[in-house]
Amino acid sequence: MTTATRHWLLACGVSLMLPIGVAQAADTAGDGEPQGSTLCTKIPIPCDAVIAHRGASYQAPESTRPAYLLARDLGVDYLELDLQRTQDGVLVTVHDNSLDRNTNVAEVFPDRADAPVSSFTLDELKRLDAGSWFNAAYPDRARDSYSGLEILTLDEVIDIAEEGNNHPGLYIETKVPEQFPGIEQDLRNKLEARGWLGKAAKSRPAAEQGAVRVGDTPGRVVMQTFSKASLQALEEAMPQVPRVLLLWLGEGGIEAAPGRPQGDGESTADYYARQQVASPEAYRSWLDFAKDHGAIGVGPSAVQSEHDGAFSSQFSYMDLAEPWMVGMAHDDGMLVHLYTVDEPADFERYRQRGVDGFFTNRPEQLLEFYGLPSQDQDAILKRYGY
Ligand code: G3P
Ligand code: CA
Repeated sequence: MTTATRHWLLACGVSLMLPIGVAQAADTAGDGEPQGSTLCTKIPIPCDAVIAHRGASYQAPESTRPAYLLARDLGVDYLELDLQRTQDGVLVTVHDNSLDRNTNVAEVFPDRADAPVSSFTLDELKRLDAGSWFNAAYPDRARDSYSGLEILTLDEVIDIAEEGNNHPGLYIETKVPEQFPGIEQDLRNKLEARGWLGKAAKSRPAAEQGAVRVGDTPGRVVMQTFSKASLQALEEAMPQVPRVLLLWLGEGGIEAAPGRPQGDGESTADYYARQQVASPEAYRSWLDFAKDHGAIGVGPSAVQSEHDGAFSSQFSYMDLAEPWMVGMAHDDGMLVHLYTVDEPADFERYRQRGVDGFFTNRPEQLLEFYGLPSQDQDAILKRYGY
């Protein structure tokens, strides 16, 4: 599908009030075409969605300004972010429950290295360096300018989404929502204040022709969560906003088939890769919950083919998008957005199964896979002083 077609479909502003189930995919056509490709014409989400996981987080430190600027200017459909709330009530984008993996919290607050994000004020978070860890971990992608990068507020990510020629949408996950009672309503209030909900959003200047326009459409925000309770809270707070239920296997998720525990020397990726759902009914029960609560799609985990030894190993999980699973979701009228996939061989394998989009740390590779224009990543980063 061409860029123009992707944007034309969105510009049509397909109603968010479509009853789930009206867009049955041709799952059994057997004609070699990717399955499920008609759903996106009925739901206001781009076909073959490109969702920048924590920004362009292969090339820049996750969830930081250069990661989101790069993703935006590359031309992604959505900036993905994990939402938490500071002790003084500010919405911020941080993935982990604590800060020690990717900040210098142990230096700045030695007694609080394991403390939850929610116990820090915004002022305290802003004193942390969220970039130097990346330079140490990935010297081949390091840049001096990454040292001292700040943790971002939701407001700052919205600013990035609004400020460029491209207008990407926001794909927001309520992270550990049980720690943040009421965060769904806080989010609603913030999005409304920023003009990202309802009619106010339509008054924002539209993106130029040929640019990404997802941020100008009814699908400008997608909410995602692993938590059934948060999905319900999101439904109450923002019934008009598309929602996706993320899928996991095992504790807190779909029931897993019994199996051997992780062996000595067995990588976590290999362990995940051999996990199986307990039954089709166990999988279906999560789809039913999603559908019953108005979700427009599900977000299953994926196995990355280079999971053993490659950078992507930390993002290789259980295969919850086997062909019958994708078919089951499509038959329910729900999109399938897969996390987290970075390599062309995996894009191809899962697209043949009919998935409707990918969360990716490497949007430049996914855009190329979809045949969309490529940009010089180094030039983009340098343009912004990185
Ligand atoms: O939100 C989709 C994907 O990001 C879920 O996994 O752990 O990277 O937030 P995680
Ligand atoms: Ca996430």
